[in-house]
Amino acid sequence: KILILDFGSQYTQLIARRVRENNVYCEIYPSDISSQFVRDFAPAGIILSGGPASVAEDKTPRAPQSVFELGVPVMGICYGMQTMAAQLGGAVENARVREFGYAEVQAQDQTTLLRDIHDRTDSAGKQVLDVWMSHGDNVTALPPGFEVMACNAATPLAAIADEKRKFYGMQFHPEVTHTLQGKAIIERFVHEICGAGHDWNMPDYMDEAIGRIRSEVGADEVILGLSGGVDSSVAAALIHRAIGKQLTCVFVDNGLLRQNEAEQVMDIFGRNLGVKVIHVDASAEFLKHLQGVADPETKRRVIGREFVEVFQREAAGIANAKWLAQGTIYPDVIESAGGKTKKAHTIKSHHNVGGLPDTLHLKLLEPLRELFKDEVRELGLALGLSHEMVFRHPFPGPGLGVRILGEVKREYAELLRRADAIFIEELRISGWYEKTSQAFAVFLPVKSVGVMGDGRTYDYVVALRAVQTEDFMTAHWAELPYTLLAKISNRIVNEVRGINRVVYDISGKPPATIEWE
Ligand code: XMP
Repeated sequence: KILILDFGSQYTQLIARRVRENNVYCEIYPSDISSQFVRDFAPAGIILSGGPASVAEDKTPRAPQSVFELGVPVMGICYGMQTMAAQLGGAVENARVREFGYAEVQAQDQTTLLRDIHDRTDSAGKQVLDVWMSHGDNVTALPPGFEVMACNAATPLAAIADEKRKFYGMQFHPEVTHTLQGKAIIERFVHEICGAGHDWNMPDYMDEAIGRIRSEVGADEVILGLSGGVDSSVAAALIHRAIGKQLTCVFVDNGLLRQNEAEQVMDIFGRNLGVKVIHVDASAEFLKHLQGVADPETKRRVIGREFVEVFQREAAGIANAKWLAQGTIYPDVIESAGGKTKKAHTIKSHHNVGGLPDTLHLKLLEPLRELFKDEVRELGLALGLSHEMVFRHPFPGPGLGVRILGEVKREYAELLRRADAIFIEELRISGWYEKTSQAFAVFLPVKSVGVMGDGRTYDYVVALRAVQTEDFMTAHWAELPYTLLAKISNRIVNEVRGINRVVYDISGKPPATIEWE
């Protein structure tokens, strides 16, 4: 396995994804772990990520010294290369010319890492790589034992290597797709240089995970809050495969679900997979507590609190339950580890089915905590879940509660559900569902005047939102074809009595957020 040390780059998770795509297992830890931790981890190789700080300044992060003493290959990327250079006796300075974006570098042809990896050869016969740069500092003096592996005018030491110790440094980012040969470089590093085998694959992982769940849980009972989202669904399918009837899922209908959602979940899990699912219709209770509440954060709190209450009540009724299973995935784990030190503004207080308090006194079972989202999907498919289920867009814990602006009413939820279902159906038919990351309708509790036939209407407005994004931190609104928007708008106004106007949201994130509340 490969150890990735995180110096705070936005791309650290991408490094891990690239390593795992090569069927090599890896884990990410913050760069300030101890030297002993690194030794105990016993990695086949180590990758040092980029980061926002400057090695040229004191008191910025450094790698634990054992990284360079274990005798395993090390690859430093950007900041990772710079700290490696500094820690091994080289020098790093603020660059006169900063480089951001595409760049060309000339590579030496006989290095273990870059041999035969290039995009083209230039007129002088040199190998040229198209790479992605993003740095304000440069390594300005090689540490003893190192040689230049690649260079360009702005960055004479664009990549460096100590072949004897198998230490490699790159100023550019091989983990981003803009570095066209990045995949080949990482493959070369993990397989040829570190000697890692191809032993990370989904079928094997599934078998191991099933074995682990069985030995951990024994004869105990497990409960799981099933939301119908990808993560909790895959967790349910996996745990059910492992322990069958010892698993009980609780599906809470809060009255804020999408059209036919409860039926679908009961069909897929209850009837098809034979999972024990308790379907709790708590919609009346949720809607009662939401009466008169218009503030988004208060609504979120009410929905979150209600969920916990309903769930605890149901859980208390399951005798012998010793475990609470959750669909926590690896990015959640990394985020909450980082969250202790990072100070970010609360834009929205997120609530999801996983976030239960520990007052239940149950042990936690989190079988997906090592997996990235796309691995969770792969596992879901391997477990026999449908493509449609596994590639669903995300749906927020508070559901339609944050898509009905202001006070939530049953009538509004009904109208929204129908408009949303038409939107999603048309996206699926036209092939746009797969081309967007998230799409939904939003109910606006304002009335506007319209005309249908010869009559005047005075009805509500629905906004359509469709975005494209990699990580949901930033997003572009999707450029849906006008003909498609026209069809959707037409159908909604004709089929949903009570809505006479449809608008399309053309705001990016930032400055808007994806949800409206
Ligand atoms: P925003 O609206 O913050 O949304 O741009 C980013 C992503 O997070 C989802 N979201 C939530 N997910 N519980 C969740 O599980 C929540 O309370 C919540 N609020 C927003 C949103 O749907 C989008 O995918």
